[in-house]
Amino acid sequence: DLGGHPHYMAKEIQEQPESVERIIRGRLDDRFGVARLDGLNLTPRELRGFARVKILGCGSAYYVGQIGATMIEELARIPADAEAASEFRYRNPIIEADTLYIAVSQSGETIDTAFAVEEIKRKGGRVVGLVNVVGSTIARACEGGVYLHAGPEIAVASTKALTNMAVGFALIALALGRVRDLSNADGQRIIDAIRALPGQIKSILDFEPEIAEHAKTVAAAKSLFFVGRVRGYPVAREGAQKFKEISYRHAEAYQTSELKHGPLALIDEELPTVAVVPRDELTERNLAAVQQIKARGGAVLAVTHEGVDFGELGVPRIVVPKTEPELDPILLTIPLQLLAYHAALTLGYDIDKPRNLAKSVTVE
Ligand code: BG6
Repeated sequence: DLGGHPHYMAKEIQEQPESVERIIRGRLDDRFGVARLDGLNLTPRELRGFARVKILGCGSAYYVGQIGATMIEELARIPADAEAASEFRYRNPIIEADTLYIAVSQSGETIDTAFAVEEIKRKGGRVVGLVNVVGSTIARACEGGVYLHAGPEIAVASTKALTNMAVGFALIALALGRVRDLSNADGQRIIDAIRALPGQIKSILDFEPEIAEHAKTVAAAKSLFFVGRVRGYPVAREGAQKFKEISYRHAEAYQTSELKHGPLALIDEELPTVAVVPRDELTERNLAAVQQIKARGGAVLAVTHEGVDFGELGVPRIVVPKTEPELDPILLTIPLQLLAYHAALTLGYDIDKPRNLAKSVTVE
């Protein structure tokens, strides 16, 4: 049931304020500034004992895993990284007893992720899930987890499930942080910010007509760059992924910091860049990169915050509400969903069922 929306993707994008409400409901504990995640089946002592976190997922879930790894490093100060489960399962990964493995999947049926989970379990590792579909293969295989409660997702291009994955990682980062050095006050700061997310997402969705206009310009390019750094890099990767999936445009994600080490050679009038430029400790560095792109004749569309001063650069902007810096990626990702959606709409492609793709890849 499309409920009056033209596509499932449009419906699922619009559902995000409510689906985020669902993942946080009952999980925020104001008294202690912590997330209550009983489903993880981990005692505080066990949570305290992990020396590393390894996140595994495929496609967009992998990119959100990278957002999650950064959140965990920032809030809990535990070394964390994300890896494509499709690679992990085919190499001979080193499984460590003091690593917390997190498998992330909307469907819970992606075979590469499911096999990664089996490999971890076979070697005695502790693996929990961040999964949407209750009772799915991956959810059952994991020893505990956090359900996303995003509701059914039909469109092949994932939106609301991804947003709930990112919020789920914020909850896990909070839980890991509060058994370490994250103070009650800092925990409360994150809790307040998480609570504000649904309203902030709604305000981004209100800008859809403007984003649709930007999409028309962007869709005209045959090839484009998406750039970001640190917190913004996985946002750029996911933005480029959506573009490839439904707009069939060559979209390449790059670390903004790496542009000058090679790909800057490609920049000209024909190759526009979507730049993620949050207001944070790296704003000046990001603006310098935007300047370098502009100086070579490249068009830039910035996904940014109020208060970032682009001066005379003449850069069109999509302005996203500010949250706590650690949570910025959650909101920065939302306009990129709309950008890909409207680009595909402009180009006349089958948005809900892009060619060559399945909602979940369950066979070898
Ligand atoms: C890919 C889908 O095959 O699997 C992507 O095309 C999806 O859209 C990825 O992000 C992972 O799927 P899941 O269900 O494990 O999150």
